[in-house]
Amino acid sequence: MSELNTIALKILEKGKGILAADESTGTMTKRLDGVNVPSTPKNRLLFRETLFSSSSMTECIGGVILYDETIKQNSSKKNKIPELISRMGSAPGIKVDTGAKVLAGSPDEKITEGLDGLRERLKEYYKLGAKFTKWRGVYSISKNYPSKLSIQANAHALARYSALVQECGMVPIVEPEVLMDGEHSSKECYEKTSEVIKRCFDELILYKVDLKGMILKPNMILAGNKSKDKISNEEVAKLTLECLKNSVPSEIPGIAFLSGGQSEIEATENLNLINKYNDTNFIMSYSYGRALQQSALKFWSKDIQNIEGTQKIFNHRAKMNTLAAQGKWSKSLEI
Ligand code: 13P
Repeated sequence: MSELNTIALKILEKGKGILAADESTGTMTKRLDGVNVPSTPKNRLLFRETLFSSSSMTECIGGVILYDETIKQNSSKKNKIPELISRMGSAPGIKVDTGAKVLAGSPDEKITEGLDGLRERLKEYYKLGAKFTKWRGVYSISKNYPSKLSIQANAHALARYSALVQECGMVPIVEPEVLMDGEHSSKECYEKTSEVIKRCFDELILYKVDLKGMILKPNMILAGNKSKDKISNEEVAKLTLECLKNSVPSEIPGIAFLSGGQSEIEATENLNLINKYNDTNFIMSYSYGRALQQSALKFWSKDIQNIEGTQKIFNHRAKMNTLAAQGKWSKSLEI
């Protein structure tokens, strides 16, 4: 087994998933504004450190994706944040793209940037303790989109990124996110997601990325949030499995879904059903941002010194998702 394969499997072992705490300062400021907490480096660290020192980090969270600011911060006990995460038994990871910008040639769409100077930045993150990385490509669905151009350009960037990350000894998380915003049906989401993922793997293979040493982070197959098409959670699970079976090479050790704007319970319930019906060899787990942090953030914002209460809420959500990653969750376990 290659070292990268071992790291990927360890992150997702026994129902463990990933905490995506890699919101850029701009996004984190929006989240904190939403709960009336000033977005200072100290407050951003306090919330994140509260999560990273929770007991569920040992039992449920196999990896944490950090943002550049956080990986360089020290905890209140003067430990480096990646060290704190490792000591809790989890793996520190880092978002390395520099964000989605307007795509020249198709200005309604986005291309993710960050390849220039990436090799040097990766070396620095590796020294800081990162074991894995993340890069997100973003695609929206409407009549003419995603265009061939955006599908191709983002697949190319994801592949070049992945090759550089593996060269540096870390596991790339490949995140092609087909957004749920819009009026599209679940069928359109299925078709576009399949095309996007297949194109990504064409490029990953061309760039000689070791497929056993990466993790795919896709969206689930959902109808658009403004769509008239209402589908059941069972259908979401079955369509998602069908799509991934037809578009993901069998060498991939694991798939960790993004939550993409689903509510906490919805994201857990869908993951649980995916695992109930999972007839593939892929591990199917979670790499959630909002669906792991929303309730904890809301609670914390009322009293930012209430560490224990915040951790209790986060631990519950992490536990529910780890059960769902094994198909063992049920609604009656929710408090
Ligand atoms: P959400 O689960 O909130 O969609 O965030 C996941 C993520 O990492 C987005 O890049």
